[in-house]
Amino acid sequence: MRAMPNPLEHPLLSAVVDDLATRGWSQQPLFLPDALARALAAECRRRHAEGELNPAGVGRGASQEVREAIRGDQIQWIDPGQAEPCDRYLELMDTLRLAINRGLFLGLEDFECHFALYPPGAFYLKHLDRFRDDDRRMVSAVLYLNHDWQPTEGGQLRMFLADGVERDVQPHAGSLVVFLSGDIPHEVLPATRERLSLTGWFRRRGNDPF
Ligand code: OGA
Ligand code: MN
Repeated sequence: MRAMPNPLEHPLLSAVVDDLATRGWSQQPLFLPDALARALAAECRRRHAEGELNPAGVGRGASQEVREAIRGDQIQWIDPGQAEPCDRYLELMDTLRLAINRGLFLGLEDFECHFALYPPGAFYLKHLDRFRDDDRRMVSAVLYLNHDWQPTEGGQLRMFLADGVERDVQPHAGSLVVFLSGDIPHEVLPATRERLSLTGWFRRRGNDPF
């Protein structure tokens, strides 16, 4: 009898885990099947057309505010059971969460993610994906949903790596970028066309004193 393949050992997931362990970030240009990337892009556009996306805030909780001079994207958080392609993505990311836990012992408990739409000209200045008062976010994961993206259209994710090295990623459909949230400052450059993504974070358990 042959053993069932273990989904945690899928080569794409293993590559992400190995990259995170050795250098703190990973880029997988062909992470999602194109049909799923198209279905997710259509879902994001539908939500935008129906007015469901809202200007993203900066900060957390009561101190959160909209500041377009810092970030100009519009977002909507994703919950399970809303749409089939979103559920498939959440399942995939849960498998990645388990693979990361197995390889890096980060104790990741959950994954939260939102659609993000940057209108032409919008950007997100250099930042870290950690809140001063909440360090549960351990690993960031951004999945891009832009078909036929040209480098001349801008919209790159710029990561600031060790030793002053900068690394730009094109927001091509189906491409996934994963990095350690507390370690890698990054920014989103303005684009000449609408830029869609699914941005998420793997979180560990909080240190709730109560
Ligand atoms: C973010 C972010 C990067 C991107 O939402 O925190 O940095 O490429 N997004 O969209
Ligand atoms: Mn970020």
